[in-house]
This record gives sequence, structure tokens and C-alpha cells, in this order.
Amino acid sequence: MKLLRSIAEMRSASREARAKGALGFVPTMGALHQGHLSLVRAARAQCSTVAASIFVNPTQFGPNEDFKRYPRDLEQDCKLLHAENVDLVFVPSAEEMYPAGPTTFVEVGELANKLCGRSRSGHFRGVATVVAKLFNIVAPDRAYFGQKDAAQVTIIRKLVRDLHFPVEIVACPIVRESDGLAMSSRNAYLDPAQRKQAVVLQHTLVRIQRLFQQGQRSVAQLTSAGQQMLTAEPALKLDYLEFVDQETLDPLSTAAPGTLVAVAGFFGSTRLIDNVILQQEAQLLETNPLPERK
Ligand code: PAJ
Repeated sequence: MKLLRSIAEMRSASREARAKGALGFVPTMGALHQGHLSLVRAARAQCSTVAASIFVNPTQFGPNEDFKRYPRDLEQDCKLLHAENVDLVFVPSAEEMYPAGPTTFVEVGELANKLCGRSRSGHFRGVATVVAKLFNIVAPDRAYFGQKDAAQVTIIRKLVRDLHFPVEIVACPIVRESDGLAMSSRNAYLDPAQRKQAVVLQHTLVRIQRLFQQGQRSVAQLTSAGQQMLTAEPALKLDYLEFVDQETLDPLSTAAPGTLVAVAGFFGSTRLIDNVILQQEAQLLETNPLPERK
């Protein structure tokens, strides 16, 4: 596994790799967990070379957010990536990624103010800008993102379409702790009590999914059932519970298969997110039960 710190080194390694076959890329901010590693494994299964990046991107954090205290452990991250047979790890400095006085950024239009963008002003502009830079530097054939950050996936797909990046975007399922909490580098901030309380996010999504599968299509009804569960956990300060179209992130009044249900909230000062894409499979099973065995 090669550790590359400069853009020039990364470019030359990428050129070499692409001469041999497909280059898969997993962008991260480090503090790696099984969620990140699931993306690496997907890339490993589909590409001849796998590159990961570790860069805590300052432009996607607001002034009062956790940029300074965001967990950083390069040594441990490299051990984990090495164990997954990653070939290239790009670890640029902030100076390397943001030469002094930049005036060019990637704007994502209306999408900037949807879901997390509403309370995290500038967040998606920062994400789109750094991902565009990383795509230009790493030049991957495929890039892997987690469905955990559903709005991020939507925005990256739009970025690739709008700016003609020759990259295939692969979205991978959410990896969860055994009690259902979505894995996140920010879970490390939770104290033991908050860690237990935090599962209410996933429990709420499961309840909503179940009501949907039982035939409930009214977003007003589904939201009210969800909010009931969320407000029953006083430690949670809810940011939003929203039902949106996956492509536009616009709110819907009627739920359908494919609707994205996204939730975000604070436990103390820790902001957590989770989501589910509604599916009617269970309903299909209920209406078309498997024939009984004789
Ligand atoms: P980071 O939060 O480190 O996440 C890196 C990738 O891992 C993202 O695609 C994210 O969706 C995915 N991921 C995180 N937790 C996951 C989980 N529990 N299950 C599945 N995938 C998970 O997202 C970012 O970094 C940054 O915004 C970045 C894209 C690197 C740009 O700076």
C-alpha cells in the first residue's frame, strides 16, 4: 500500500493504475469504521486498483461545527486500509488541496438548501467542491459513496452529470451497529447514555417503513407517527424528519416506493443522521404469501 501526500504523486500513481484496469476510489475523512470499509470492499471486488483518500475537508464544516475536534487517527486508518488490500492512500494537506486564495467553487443550486443543507449552510458546496477536486486528481473510473449520506449521493450524482465527470458513482448500503444505530465517525462523541438513546433514529425509520408496508401512504400520517416516537426521547433535539424525492430532495405529500425518509438530530452537541428508502417488498410478501408446505 502506497501513501501519497502530493497531487503530483497521486496523479502519477493513478495514471499507472488506469493503464492496468479499472481504478476504484473511496473518498473519506478518516476515523474509519466498518461503514467506510464496506465501500473499500465493494471497490476491491469490482476494480483492479483501489485508492482511498483521507482528508478532513475544512470547507464542508460551518464555523461552529466540529472541524477542529473531528477524530483523526492516520496510523489506525492506514492499518485498516492495509488489511483490506487497498493499493493507494491519498492523504493531502489542506494547503495542497486549497492553494491560497481560491475563487472557484462548485455550487449545487437549490440542492444546497435541502435536508442537512438547511441547517448546515455551505456544507454541500464544500462537499461538491472537494469531491470535484478529488475526482480531478485521482481520476477514478468508479467512486464509492455510502447511502448513509443520502443527500450527498444525490448531489454527487448531479455533479457528475452536470460537469461530465467520467466517473461511475456506486452507492453502497448503510452499515449499522448491532442495535441498529448507523455507523458514523461522530458516534465516538456520544456518552454511554446518548449512545443508547441514539437508536431512536433507526427505530423510528423502521416503524415508518413498517407503516408504509402496511399501506400507509400519507406523509402527514407517517410523519406524525415518526414524530411521536422521536419526541418520546427527550435527549433528542430533532433537526428534521423529511419525506423527499431521491433525485430532487423536494418534499413529498404522498409516499411511494423509492421515497427517501431522512432524519437528523442532536444528542447533546453531536449531530447524527439516518435514512431509509421506502420499499414495499414486505407488502408484496404479505399479498403474495409463499405457498404453504404440505
Ligand atoms: P465520511 O463521513 O468520512 O464518509 C466517507 C464515506 O463513507 C461516505 O460516502 C459516507 O456516506 C460513507 N459512510 C459513512 N458511514 C457509513 C455507514 N454507516 N454505512 C455506509 N457508508 C458509510 O462523507 C464524507 O466523509 C465526506 O463528505 C467526503 C465525501 C469524503 C468529502 O469530504
